Amino acid sequence: MAMLRSAAVLTRDNVAFLMEGVPIMYRELLFPVKKNADLVSQDGRVAVITGGSRGIGLEAVKTMLKLNMHLIVGSSNPDKASKTLQPLATEAGGQCKLEVWPLDLTKQESVRAFCQRFIDSGLPLHVLLCNAGIMFYPKHELTEDGFEMQMAVNHLGHFTMQHMLYPRLRESGTPERKARIVNVSSTAHNCCSGMNFDDIMLSKVYSPKGAYFQSKGAQILCTKYLANKAKDSEDNVTCCSLHPGVIYTDLYDYTTLYKMASPVLKKLWKSPQDGAETLLYACLSPESEGVTGAHFENAAVYRSARYTEDKQQQEKMWQLSRQLCKVDAFKEGEL
Ligand SMILES: NC(=O)c1ccc[n+]([C@@H]2O[C@H](COP(=O)([O-])OP(=O)(O)OC[C@H]3O[C@@H](n4cnc5c(N)ncnc54)[C@H](OP(=O)(O)O)[C@@H]3O)[C@@H](O)[C@H]2O)c1
Repeated sequence: MAMLRSAAVLTRDNVAFLMEGVPIMYRELLFPVKKNADLVSQDGRVAVITGGSRGIGLEAVKTMLKLNMHLIVGSSNPDKASKTLQPLATEAGGQCKLEVWPLDLTKQESVRAFCQRFIDSGLPLHVLLCNAGIMFYPKHELTEDGFEMQMAVNHLGHFTMQHMLYPRLRESGTPERKARIVNVSSTAHNCCSGMNFDDIMLSKVYSPKGAYFQSKGAQILCTKYLANKAKDSEDNVTCCSLHPGVIYTDLYDYTTLYKMASPVLKKLWKSPQDGAETLLYACLSPESEGVTGAHFENAAVYRSARYTEDKQQQEKMWQLSRQLCKVDAFKEGEL
């Protein structure tokens, strides 16, 4: 019986993925990448970035360094990340500054230590780019906090970060130039119809795709909830989510297609530079200044799945995330 249920869930998720995949590839092939033409020097403004060591995040980092930003990149392999990133900072020159700090999003303790270090630094925070992610983690594994891996890295680690760093973002934003929280989600959130609140860690039946879909949906639900909260409190902070496009990166490491057809996909799919355009649009573009609660695709506002607009699901996911991340335990996380 359990095996039948598992097979049914895996089939459902594969079908949903294929059905979403077709319109995505159509959009990807039909519309050219919208490039940011309006980015100006950031004069030392500070950004915290997760997942800046490779793929799409790395390309965003390169541009941000050229735009004279002070970047703090969180990485689960800081030595390797430093080796990649420090030469880029040297090359960019100018006023830019780069620091790589240890951050393992699978561990809430590591997330808290990273945020506390940032709070203690006294630095302002103008942009929080939550970009790190894993996809289709093959087996059901719980982190030391009891979180399913994809939910831990893609959503809950970033959720705690946003709580702890929110007061600093609020202090750093101004009415003319708001501080920005950007959550890199995925169009894959369209492949599920909502959160599995009865079994959020998918312990009864695990599906690598299903876990990814709902972790990306959770990001959007909480983005919208936080955006409304910040707006109601008249804080100078915006919060948006985005889909970067279908981009050729190591994110697809766990897929058979990537292993078998890598050279073809490299030609067919967009490059990490292309993917970075929507991140940069959300984080820095004057065109997106003041936009909040929105979901972006190809450097423009784009609709997200209907369930992400459901206020009850937003509230439920927010409260559940708070409870799981024990956010009440932190003085800094007042939201
Ligand atoms: N590529 C696509 O087609 C696509 C499509 C839709 C959405 N996205 C989203 O875009 C984002 C970036 O993906 P990508 O394609 O650039 O993937 P990628 O090349 O695999 O990069 C993933 C990044 O996540 C970081 N990361 C992974 N596990 C971590 C952990 N436990 N703690 C801290 N950082 C961790 C990695 O940094 P370290 O190794 O330095 O820790 C790495 O920089 C993801 O959120 C992904 O879901 C991508």
